[in-house]
Amino acid sequence: MNERPPDASRYLAFEGVEGAGKSSVAGAIGDMLSRTGVDVVRVREPGGTPVGERIRDILLSGEVNPLPRSEAALFAAARGQLVSEVVIPALETGAWVVSDRSAYSSLAYQGGGRGLPLDEVHRLNDIALGGVWPSTVVLLRVGANDGLTRQSDPDRIGGETEEFFEAVVAAFDELAASEPERFIVVDATRPLKTVIAEVAEKLGVA
Ligand code: TYD
Repeated sequence: MNERPPDASRYLAFEGVEGAGKSSVAGAIGDMLSRTGVDVVRVREPGGTPVGERIRDILLSGEVNPLPRSEAALFAAARGQLVSEVVIPALETGAWVVSDRSAYSSLAYQGGGRGLPLDEVHRLNDIALGGVWPSTVVLLRVGANDGLTRQSDPDRIGGETEEFFEAVVAAFDELAASEPERFIVVDATRPLKTVIAEVAEKLGVA
């Protein structure tokens, strides 16, 4: 274990409901950052480590149905592996980490969507992460319905009800409002090029 948490100022996460365009925007921003000459490590949650990929299968395949608390613990466990094995080593070499989702997804989905107390989900993740949270979170905002209709092949959680996603969208908005210094909120219902340009400008990589 690390005695002192690393500098997480280069740990950047993209968040939003399914269909918000997280992967495309994260990919484009990662490429722009690389062109400025810095090293960029791209990650995706849940997964990205051998343990994390197995947990991903339990969480999303639909073959088994973890209860909400177990679901939160499993997401946190997968994330803990990723942060220890990939994120912290990358930050320590001076690289940027560009992540598709983060602990904020757990606050929004397991807290907002499943109704678990937010402080519990926060504590669980803080333990799993050893205090290493993304310093900047880009929230790509679409309505629950916009996101759902953009999904092609929903997984166990992606196949939840519209009410669930409405609660997730509301939770993301509340999280962004309560931590304005950490969040960049962008209207992602517009064309991808426009969204990417705005995120780049707000991050200062344009
Ligand atoms: P992901 O693979 O990012 O799917 P998508 O491309 O649809 O965004 O995430 C898988 C699902 O897991 C998605 O429905 C969001 C959900 N999820 C949580 O509920 N909690 C979490 O902490 C994370 C990371 C994802």
